[in-house]
Amino acid sequence: MSSAAPSLGERRTFAIISHPDAGKTTLTEKLLLFGGAIHLAGEVKARGAARRARSDWMKIEQQRGISVTSSVMTFERAQENGDVITFNLLDTPGHEDFSEDTYRTLTAVDSAVMVIDVAKGIESQTRKLFEVCRLRSVPIITFVNKVDREGREVFETLDEIADLLALDVCPMTWPVGMGGTFEGVYDLVNNRLLLPEGDSREFQGKVIQTSGLDDPQLDAIVSPQNLAKLREDAELAMAGYAAFDAEAYRNGDLTPVYFGSALKEFGVDSLIDAIARFAPPPHALPAEPAPVSPDRDEVTGFVFKVQANMDPNHRDRIAFMRLCSGTFRRGMKLTPTGHGKPIAIHSPILFFARERELAEEAFPGDIIGIPNHGVLRVGDTLSEKGGVRFTGLPNFAPEILRRVALKDPTKTKQLRKALDDMAEEGVTQVFYPDIGSNWIVGVVGQLQLDVLLSRLDAEYKVAAVLEPAPFDTARWISSEDPAALKEFAGLHAGAMAKDRDGNPVFLAKSAWEVGYVADRYSKVRFAATRER
Ligand code: G4P
Repeated sequence: MSSAAPSLGERRTFAIISHPDAGKTTLTEKLLLFGGAIHLAGEVKARGAARRARSDWMKIEQQRGISVTSSVMTFERAQENGDVITFNLLDTPGHEDFSEDTYRTLTAVDSAVMVIDVAKGIESQTRKLFEVCRLRSVPIITFVNKVDREGREVFETLDEIADLLALDVCPMTWPVGMGGTFEGVYDLVNNRLLLPEGDSREFQGKVIQTSGLDDPQLDAIVSPQNLAKLREDAELAMAGYAAFDAEAYRNGDLTPVYFGSALKEFGVDSLIDAIARFAPPPHALPAEPAPVSPDRDEVTGFVFKVQANMDPNHRDRIAFMRLCSGTFRRGMKLTPTGHGKPIAIHSPILFFARERELAEEAFPGDIIGIPNHGVLRVGDTLSEKGGVRFTGLPNFAPEILRRVALKDPTKTKQLRKALDDMAEEGVTQVFYPDIGSNWIVGVVGQLQLDVLLSRLDAEYKVAAVLEPAPFDTARWISSEDPAALKEFAGLHAGAMAKDRDGNPVFLAKSAWEVGYVADRYSKVRFAATRER
């Protein structure tokens, strides 16, 4: 990373949201390749796979062919005017079982790229993730992938995005044919035609600059059928869809849409360019006592993820902190909220193409990995003076609850440590019932339970089984009126528990029961998410 004084405009911190198989991994590789972060696009997968092979619990990843862990990739790119922009791409696991982790990662970005498969349109996971972005007003650039294959009509895709997501759409590029008739991609903004080359039919930089869609050059290059359709479609689109409006995009009301092929490299360059030109730089984030602007001098940031086992040779944990304000320097002391004692950050890590690199300095929008032994937790704010707390990092109501039963009862202490550790990493939530000794874990997806058991066994040497719990969901309870809270807890003693931080939780037999008690105890608040 450059040590020249940066302006905030030089950072773009974003994530890719998509349904599994839409092409996120391929696009990520190509973005890194275009961004000059790595030399061989295949390396991302190969290195990842080699590393994963060494770690026991990550075998689940391999078996299921999904990405459980999320990481951060940083790349730089010089603009035509000479400015260098740093892109921080926060990778999010695509599998829906890990939505909680993904949601938290989305709290740390300023914008997102939504990848859609041109043949499938908006799929369930894309839609869920989009809703999270909308809640937080995260602006979205859309990349419609795989136009080198047969897919839906362009209008069908655009109308689906507009209707399902209630967004204005603005096509920025247009595919010229698809599948067997694919002849390239037309850039509607710059009036350029991008053409495939060679046996693989990839985009290798062959661009025809035109004066517009009427340019007679096109007649000599594109087949008459495709050209007639392109001209007609583009004209209809220009009349029918909103013109691009950067303000509307940044407000989350409009999405510019790029058609391309990550595999064949069509549209990737335009996408990077769009992120550089339109995506917002770091902005003020919600915090107590007041929002924190990125130009504030004091260094502040929050932990959105904690991950263990990144390096199987070291039992360290990495807390991923998004820097929100100030210039961070290596060795700096920062105070985590609620813990009191400042900690010196001697070995911060920047993630450069998934390789670790020691960071000397970091700026708002950057992500820093902080190695620690369990002091830092998801949701913690770190700041120089200790007086700030970022808000809005949610804990979700678990959808599956299980009782943890030990095969060897002498391992209670190890189990408690393991459950606490994994709760802190966000792998599972843990609830300690007020009565009885059967601890309960809560997750939003089955896969988290597999990870839990596998890690209990491999890392903590604790053999355990998960049994059905007599509860279906959990709610964090609170009240302005301590007597009302006490009364409720007293009458439902068998269903009361504490979360890892000692907050009272009501374990409910069903969503119906939650509704029932919420009606009867109007002074008690039953929260499905707990904001940290
Ligand atoms: P994901 O991370 O969103 O789950 O998707 P990923 O990139 O792994 O892509 C899923 C499949 O779609 C892969 O094929 C990939 O090669 C293919 N793909 C991605 N982008 C394009 C594209 O623009 N055009 C075409 N035609 N295919 C694309 P696979 O056979 O499942 O895996 P692999 O063996 O090729 O890696």
